[in-house]
Formats: sequence, C-alpha cells, structure tokens
Amino acid sequence: MSAFPQDFLWGAATAAYQVEGGFDADGKGPSIWDEFAHRPGTTYQGTNGDVAVDHYHRFREDVALMGELGMKSYRFSLSWPRLLPEGRGEVNEAGVAFYSDLIDELLKHQIEPMITLYHWDLPLALQQEGGWEVRSTADAFVEYARLCYQRFGDRVKLWSTFNETVVFIGHGYITGAHPPAVQDPARALQACHHVFVAHAASVAAFRTSGIDGQIGFVNVLQPHTPRSDAPEDIAACQFADGIYTHWLYDPVLKGEYPAELLAQAQALWGVPRFAPGDADLLRNNRCDFIGLNFYKRETVAANDQPTSFNANHSGQRGSGHQQGKEFGVQGLFKFVRNPQGVYTDWDWEIYPQGLTDGIMMIKARYGDVPIYITENGLGAKDPIIDGEVRDDDRIDYLRQHIAAIAEAIEQGADVRGYYPWSFIDLLSWLNGFQKQYGFVYVDHQRGLARQRKKSFAWYQQVIASNGEQR
Ligand code: BG6
Repeated sequence: MSAFPQDFLWGAATAAYQVEGGFDADGKGPSIWDEFAHRPGTTYQGTNGDVAVDHYHRFREDVALMGELGMKSYRFSLSWPRLLPEGRGEVNEAGVAFYSDLIDELLKHQIEPMITLYHWDLPLALQQEGGWEVRSTADAFVEYARLCYQRFGDRVKLWSTFNETVVFIGHGYITGAHPPAVQDPARALQACHHVFVAHAASVAAFRTSGIDGQIGFVNVLQPHTPRSDAPEDIAACQFADGIYTHWLYDPVLKGEYPAELLAQAQALWGVPRFAPGDADLLRNNRCDFIGLNFYKRETVAANDQPTSFNANHSGQRGSGHQQGKEFGVQGLFKFVRNPQGVYTDWDWEIYPQGLTDGIMMIKARYGDVPIYITENGLGAKDPIIDGEVRDDDRIDYLRQHIAAIAEAIEQGADVRGYYPWSFIDLLSWLNGFQKQYGFVYVDHQRGLARQRKKSFAWYQQVIASNGEQR
C-alpha cells in the first residue's frame, strides 16, 4: 500500500519572474528584479526575465502539459507589479485577467492552484520608497493580499504569503547578490521583521475574508550536521540552526522570535525594532501550514573568523560554497564541505535523508502543523541524446526524495503535498537558463518550443500510482 494519503497533492512549482516574461506587457509595472537584472554584471551572461519562457503568452499550452502529466496541484506565484503596477492603488485589470484565466485553465484540468503571493519581485515603486526596510511596504502588501483574496479567493484554496525569507532578505541585505543589493545585517533584520509583520497582517486579513482555504508560509528547509563531535562544532551547528531555522520559522509558527537570539540581535545591532502591537500581531496570526523547500544540507564547523552568510543562490556554477559576505560577528560557525558527500555541479549536497530528518525536526519543534514540500529538485545541465532529454540524474534525485517523504509520513508527519521544482525549465535567478530543473525542456534556439523530458513520463507514472511506482 502507498505511504501517501489518497488526497496527496502531487504537483510541481514555478515562480512568476522565472517563467512569465511579458515584463512590461499590458500595463505591468517594473519589479526590483526587472531593474536589477538589467544592470550589467548582476546575473549570468546578463540573462533576465524579460521573456523568460513566455508563460504569460503560452500558459494554455503549459497547463495542457500539466494536465497530461497528471498534476493534482500547481504552485505558482503572482507578480505583484502585474496586478498593482505602483505596488498599491490602481489595479491593472489586464493582470487580474491573466491570473484569472490561468486559474480557470488549471481548474478545467482538475489542477488545484496553490498561490504564492511573494516570490521576490517587489514593485520597483515600493523599493524607491524604502522597500522592506519601511513599514509602509508591509501595509502595501496587505492591500495587495486583499486584492488577491477578493479576485481569486472564490477559486483558490491554498495560499502562501512569502517564499524563502532567508534568500531574499539574506541576499538582498547581507551578501548583496540580489536586489536591493545592500550589505548590512542590521538592515536585514529590520527588513525581515517587516516581512513577518506583513505576513501576520495578511493572515489576519485572510481569516476575515471568508475564503474557505488555508494560508501558510514557505521557508527553506536546511538541516545542519556538525562536522565532528567536538563540543565547539556542535555549538556552532546549534547556532546555525538558530539563525537559519528558528529565526525564520518561530515567528510564523510560534508567533514569536527565539528569545535568546532576539536579545543578542537587539543588544548587538538594536534590531529588530517592534512597533506597538507587533508582538500581538505575530502571536495571533500563525500559519495554517508550512511549506518546505528542500535542496541540500550543510555541514557546520566552529569558526574563529568572521561568520559569513550562505544560502541558495549564492553564486554561479561551482562557486556556491563558502561564499557570501560576513555577518560581522566573530567566531560563530562556518559551512564546510562534507568529504563523504555527493554534490551537484553547483556544490549543493545531495542528501535525501536530510528531508526526512528535517520534516521530523519541524514536527518536533512545532507540533503537528500540516506540511507541503513546496520545492525540491536537481539543478543540472541535462544531456540531450538523440534528441531526447535524458535527465536520469533528476529521476534518481526525485525518487530518493519521494522515498524520504514516505519515510517521514510513516514516522507520523502530516505531509500533504509534493511540488518538485520545477514544472518547466525556467530562469534561475543568477544562473540563467543553464541550470535546469524541469520536467519540460524549453528550446531557446527553436522559439521556446516545449519538449517532454524523460522525467516527464517517469513522474506521470509516480502520480498515477500515488507514489508507489517510482
Ligand atoms: C529556491 C527558489 O530557493 O531555489 C527558486 O525559491 C529557485 O526560485 C530555486 O529557482 C533554485 O535555485 P537556483 O539558484 O538553482 O535557480
């Protein structure tokens, strides 16, 4: 018998900036990524999302492929500046019509939409007012969320507010690799606080919207293992858990920051600063579910040098490790290579057991919160042999991770869905189109023609057998 419940949501995921294109079509406003990627030297070979894979114009063809794959659910994000070009105020009805048509098309194929409200493409107009560093951006986010609930809430039951705070805040405000390219941990923590406030306030708005659905938050799940049994490596590992997990999960699942770390941050940098009412807002608006994006684990060692920040997307091919700007705090921890580890071409350790362990760690700390695996996948340059995209490595990777989820379910975790990253080959933020994740290949030499990969037929069979045949 399958480990997976009958109503398990087998899906796949994408994000607006990475697939849609149509960056200035039909009244869409610019986002921070439109502006950033147009600056020379910011992305791999100057690639950008102007056209991406043109999902904006080809969504019906793409949804037909999703239907053929048998997907039960599709996780995608909405582009805030497509709906509100200035970030607030006047609504772009053409943008509303695009998402409305996409949702209808999905439902026509019995595919349950799962919406992410924010996958990093902040309206540029709001960045020019201070972006996440100013509280008014959180207010604008709530206005945007309400608009989405009103227009799409009659058909969409699964919502999440933010995707991966660790990445867009970490790289936006510490390493400077993402927009707005700031390098200042204190500013990072205040911006991050406004994200939590925006999340909590839009969960509150969701609860009063009358939508018969659930709202959650999506985080990177990055388990840490100490390099050795030495007490200093174990302490370093616990500290990494504190920063990469507790800081980012506690506010949305427990409704408060981890007390000790909060005290340390406030003593060191004077942040995050709370406005009156913030603590209650967080406490009263916890998530209905948590989305976990799992790609890799990190091995952690003690460090006597300044600690550097590292997360997904820290660099280009082969340079992902040990990169990043310093936190400016002496001697906390560092990520090191695991000599026994198996790594991708981008130096991400492949460690499926980490998914089981990570899910069980979330259950142990936060109780029986429903879980969706909202991203998981292998970024690789897929071989094309005799015209076929033979992505056997991806099949292997996904197979092992599905087994890891089955294991967690058997151990009692409430995992309700699996969304491999990604449905289709798309734009990797800093790595262009060379880092592929999809079940569907896009031929950039032949007018963005779609082609099913070997993994497409494989995943079709996984879904059809509810995870038994894999
Ligand atoms: C996740 C993001 O962190 O990782 C996705 O939510 C992203 O948007 C994915 O594409 C893979 O990262 P990368 O850098 O390999 O494209």
